[in-house]
Amino acid sequence: MRTPVMAGNWKMYKTPEETAGFFARFLEQVGNPADREIVICPPFVNIPAAVAATSGSVVRIGGQNLYWKTEGAFTGEVSGPMLRAAGCTHVIVGHSERRQYFSETDETVLARTRAALEAGLTPIVCVGETLEARESGETASVLTRQFQDGIAPLETAQFGQIVIAYEPVWAIGTGRTATPAIAAEAHVTLRRLAASRFGTDPADRVRILYGGSVKPDNIQTLMAEKEIDGVLVGGASLDPVSFATITNA
Ligand code: 13P
Repeated sequence: MRTPVMAGNWKMYKTPEETAGFFARFLEQVGNPADREIVICPPFVNIPAAVAATSGSVVRIGGQNLYWKTEGAFTGEVSGPMLRAAGCTHVIVGHSERRQYFSETDETVLARTRAALEAGLTPIVCVGETLEARESGETASVLTRQFQDGIAPLETAQFGQIVIAYEPVWAIGTGRTATPAIAAEAHVTLRRLAASRFGTDPADRVRILYGGSVKPDNIQTLMAEKEIDGVLVGGASLDPVSFATITNA
């Protein structure tokens, strides 16, 4: 059994004050479930407020990105040890918005994933195809390339520490959710790649989340798909009632 991960990616939304307000309402509604992991990844400046608000709860806090060096003259960057010291347990790596707008490549995804693991953080490594790739029948080849270059070079023990998020770019922020069957097909592709590189046991254990227009009204059907081990939620994680409905599903 793979413990589901219900993760929220706040992207560039909310102030520290709004962060505290969110958790005051969210925590009332989630209780302390032991059968799932709940993670919120707010913007960096809100991490202290988020860590303070969730202390003593089951909710874990993550960054949305990290640099692969531990410190140095890298203006504007934040390192894994800094995130860890601030109270984070997780970090998103290689989100499609980073790939699209900030020149993230499979090579930098790998470097950031290794840095996260060295800092004791759980990386949530994102992969997924664009609409163009899907329409031209290249979904499997895109996922294969992202896996081979961004994930396969990890050591088996390192692979055992990561979470993968399949986020088809065409489903992000568009209201167009992949059907559970489409998501399952991609998850199976990723799990097969994992099995051929790391062996069936690590492949069976890795959690593969689905992300892209996950909402309270589609969470049940997505989570009913056995290949989907949780979700990475953007827009619907900003509202405490919606995200509680999702995490409670
Ligand atoms: P939406 O849920 O807003 O489509 O965003 C998904 C996402 O990018 C999560 O990382």
